[in-house]
Amino acid sequence: MSLSDTAKAIIDKLNKGGCHNGQGLADDIGITRNAIWKQIENLKAKGLEIRSDKQRGYELVTPFIPLDSKMIKPYLTDRVIEQDIHWHFFADIDSTNRYLKSRYLALNQWEICLAEQQTSGRGRFNRDWYSPFGQNIYCSLSWMFLGDSSELSGLSLVVGLMILNALVDYGLDAQALAIKWPNDIYYYDKKIAGILIELSAESHHQTQVVIGIGLNVNMNRAKLIKSWTSICLETGEVHDRNVIVAHLINSLCLCLKDYNQEKKVTFLKAWQMYDYLYNQSISVTKHDNQIAGIAKGINEQGDLIIELANGESITCSSGEASLKREK
Ligand code: BTN
Repeated sequence: MSLSDTAKAIIDKLNKGGCHNGQGLADDIGITRNAIWKQIENLKAKGLEIRSDKQRGYELVTPFIPLDSKMIKPYLTDRVIEQDIHWHFFADIDSTNRYLKSRYLALNQWEICLAEQQTSGRGRFNRDWYSPFGQNIYCSLSWMFLGDSSELSGLSLVVGLMILNALVDYGLDAQALAIKWPNDIYYYDKKIAGILIELSAESHHQTQVVIGIGLNVNMNRAKLIKSWTSICLETGEVHDRNVIVAHLINSLCLCLKDYNQEKKVTFLKAWQMYDYLYNQSISVTKHDNQIAGIAKGINEQGDLIIELANGESITCSSGEASLKREK
């Protein structure tokens, strides 16, 4: 379930700033004072910071703009609008990726799932993805690729580039953005977004692709560890996630519609401009193995090229790379 209209109406009032007493809110919205109290308690339980004062009423600690399709659609390009997109909004869900993976997907249909909060958000390597209420973007997109999963090598890098392009388009500083192979997005040397792509082979050369994006938008320093950041932290402002979601979808649509090998080659060339690891001393962990060397970009498949101490070059198609200085 997405946020109720009553909850949205209360948030709308509180977003105007200052304190709002329960009776005033009740009269404006047309429900009882007790119902207002219940809604406020519910929002607080989800993690929204609302200050309550017996005399003065309720006040939002920071503005909160809920995710809302009506606020996203005006920013979508015609190319996106002409697609058959099914939108799913949730106030909370275990994982937006898991939700889309469980759904039947028709050909030429796109599914997009957004949640204010994930209770079991998942990252790469089976890690948890911290997903507090109302602060960040937790978005999954799924579509049916007409081909085998083997034809999707490199897709994860291309998606990383598309997310980065969307952020540049939104107004972030392109010079400060980078992609850490394969697709972690860095801003000012700190991770700001992660991508989890899950493929499931269907019959007749069809592959369901679920692309999950976690982007830190309004999360503050207290909630973030040192090597992570958010858009709000770097810009000093609270951002409307609806506008950013539209930029993400516009950018993804550009590359995913008719995705093919030619497109991949072009996108992978552009990817190299943002290579966070290039010429750096790195180590790559894959299962129990660790490979150390100097990162030398990617090959045509999107595999990472590593130059070993003996001068020999090897490639790596999966694994977790880290800078030696990060350790
Ligand atoms: C990473 O480990 O860097 C990838 C993180 C991906 C997180 C996103 S949030 C939306 C979607 N749903 C999930 O459970 N995970 C992805």
